[in-house]
Amino acid sequence: MLIALLPGDGIGPEVIAEAVRVLDKVVGDKLSYETGAVGGAAYKSAGHPLPPETLDLAKRARAILFGAVGDPDCDRLERHLRPEQAILGLRKELTLFANLRPATLFKELADASALRPEVAQAIDMVIVRELNGDVYFGEKGMRKTASGRREGYDVMSYNEDEVARIARVGFETARARRGKLCSVDKANVLETSQLWRDVVIELAADYPDIELSHMYVDNAAMQLVRNPGQFDVIVTGNLFGDILSDQASMCAGSIGMLPSASLDSNQKGLYEPIHGSAPDIAGQGKANPLATILSAGMMLRYSLGMGAEADRIDMAVAKALENGARTPDLGGKLTTTQMGDAVLAAL
Ligand code: NAD
Ligand code: IPM
Ligand code: MN
Repeated sequence: MLIALLPGDGIGPEVIAEAVRVLDKVVGDKLSYETGAVGGAAYKSAGHPLPPETLDLAKRARAILFGAVGDPDCDRLERHLRPEQAILGLRKELTLFANLRPATLFKELADASALRPEVAQAIDMVIVRELNGDVYFGEKGMRKTASGRREGYDVMSYNEDEVARIARVGFETARARRGKLCSVDKANVLETSQLWRDVVIELAADYPDIELSHMYVDNAAMQLVRNPGQFDVIVTGNLFGDILSDQASMCAGSIGMLPSASLDSNQKGLYEPIHGSAPDIAGQGKANPLATILSAGMMLRYSLGMGAEADRIDMAVAKALENGARTPDLGGKLTTTQMGDAVLAAL
């Protein structure tokens, strides 16, 4: 089974290396790997953040394990050449519209959460984020106003099919868990969100067993730190899901802990930590690799039909944390590689 490894920029290669060591130990030679260039690294070596060979590799592979992209050297390039276009391009080109971002507190990390331990320990949720639409992919540009002032614009839109497709993933995800779905929008202000809410309500007729609620995104941000335990599954748009998932990560201990799966409708997937390339700590061995290791576990579970092996990875991460393994983001001193070692030892 061919896996495309796309390490990318900054801490991307550092965390991918640990995930591959873990995969080698758990599934050995059942997987083969091909590495592709993405992001700023690809721009520098090949002139484009998502070179055609990388896109081709991603299409050929059974699944994709992705590190992170983003490089401060590239922040002033024309937008289509910036590193971030690599991940946006892959999501769009491969129709990876459903982004699952589970946020669970490993009980040993209650002290690492930004919340009081008794509030934090209840967090056990999945954010289902739409990934192919919204303000990310609408018309955008810079223009001059009538009076010659600069104006930037980004059009936000969703059509009903796009909403229905992700809403179904939300309902199904809730059905496989505790049966509660909270749809997060801004229907009090945005037409995009009014359509979102209408379509979710229409679909609810197919899911009478699911307890559906709706929440405005500003309130959701507040509720996430007030009482994260109230959420089972959140379904939301691309932009709101991006923001809420970074916030949820700190409720669960660290941005370095949250994995994700980005899926099409046939279980093809791209797996990546929710964090970025962390230029502030890149090259220093400070990155927490657990989000990427857990993402590799999600890859085994969702795209490769290896649920038991995925369980082993989840248990090994829990065991390593139980044994006191901590990178600096979790208040410890281990390097990225030592954290990888701790997971391997637990395996
Ligand atoms: P970031 O997630 O890279 O970093 C935010 C903060 O969290 C930093 O202080 C960083 O050191 C810390 N952090 C992140 N991951 C960590 C880990 N595994 N272990 C320990 N600490 C960690 O977000 P940013 O600084 O806003 O963005 C940096 C670059 O990454 C930008 O170019 C951005 O566009 C890009 N980015 C890419 C992705 C992606 O590839 N999917 C996701 C988010 C941001
Ligand atoms: C993420 C990132 C990306 C996003 C960026 C790098 C395009 O923040 O994967 O969460 O906004 O989706
Ligand atoms: Mn993000």
